[in-house]
Amino acid sequence: MIQRLKKLAPQPLKQLIYKLLKLKVFCSVYYRDAKRFLSHSSMVSHRGRKENLRSLIAIDYHRLEKGLALPNPKPAFGVAIVDRLVDLLTDYLSRHGPDWTIKDAVLSLNAYFERYGEDAKLLKARERFEIILGEAYPDGINQKVDAISFLSKEDHQKTLDFDFASFYHSRHSIREFSNEPVCDDLIRASIQLAMRAPSVCNRQPWKVYSLSKPEKISKLCQIQGGSRGFADQISRLLVVAVDLSEFYMVGERNECWVDGGIFLQSLLVCLHANGLGACPLNWCVSTAVDEEARSLLGADPGHNIIALIAVGSLKDHIKFARSERRPLDDVLIKVE
Ligand SMILES: Cc1cc2nc3c(=O)[nH]c(=O)nc-3n(C[C@H](O)[C@H](O)[C@H](O)COP(=O)(O)O)c2cc1C
Repeated sequence: MIQRLKKLAPQPLKQLIYKLLKLKVFCSVYYRDAKRFLSHSSMVSHRGRKENLRSLIAIDYHRLEKGLALPNPKPAFGVAIVDRLVDLLTDYLSRHGPDWTIKDAVLSLNAYFERYGEDAKLLKARERFEIILGEAYPDGINQKVDAISFLSKEDHQKTLDFDFASFYHSRHSIREFSNEPVCDDLIRASIQLAMRAPSVCNRQPWKVYSLSKPEKISKLCQIQGGSRGFADQISRLLVVAVDLSEFYMVGERNECWVDGGIFLQSLLVCLHANGLGACPLNWCVSTAVDEEARSLLGADPGHNIIALIAVGSLKDHIKFARSERRPLDDVLIKVE
């Protein structure tokens, strides 16, 4: 019946139905994205979840360290932030106890109070901070590490004393690997280094799922589809994801793709610097494929998958596509 109707329907009607069907998929995908953001970000309520509380703490203590690094910080700036931060720390400590989140925040607060702690507007917050943290995290309260660092221009210049352009030019997407297994230490070192990537308010929302079992790699490659012809050579598959709990404003609804994309590039460069071959693999997939991958990975429900990276050891002779770049003037738009 449907086949007959399809044959009989006039072309414009068919095109309209086709467009409406596409629109339906489009709306359902956006609806799912919005629902995921509402459920997992810190925008509506953190409900005491460790990840959400952690992100709110990171946002606030970073505001303090960022303020301290400004050319002329206003005296005792950020009184409201300090108050809120002490509340958040109290909540976090009572629920989850002291860990690196507390440590990093306390170091920033210590540096802040070191400068402005005598200001009358801050006395109450400081007292609360010292009592609460003194009890729950006595080691932290006396740690003095400045929240800002200094470097002479001369020393800065020395770090640039190598042929960066050649290095940057030498990274390519590699789709042919040797049989040599990829050493775990190199993966760890690459991820560690890639974490120097910048992120909004230094939230570092990245997660990397690392797969080495051939069956799982093969399954994920099969549903992703972009590694046809070289999937069997991949000895490590990295899944770059971003934790939505790190975001708390509606304006940040797309931030996961930005921070995730920057981290993806950072990781590609670091894998290259560590002598590994790598090829990014897109995650332009349907909702169904995304769900299938999440269940294969046992992914946290709040993590958004950004892209995959196929990783392998290099062959003696490295083959890669030329992938020419556009002329600069096609990209650079001068605004007068
Ligand atoms: C987000 C992203 C997704 C990509 N997806 C695929 C993919 O699915 N399969 C593939 O073979 N290459 C993929 N690539 C690699 C691009 O084709 C490659 O980066 C581009 O041609 C430039 O070449 P180069 O990386 O060697 O400089 C992807 C690259 C990016 C950044």
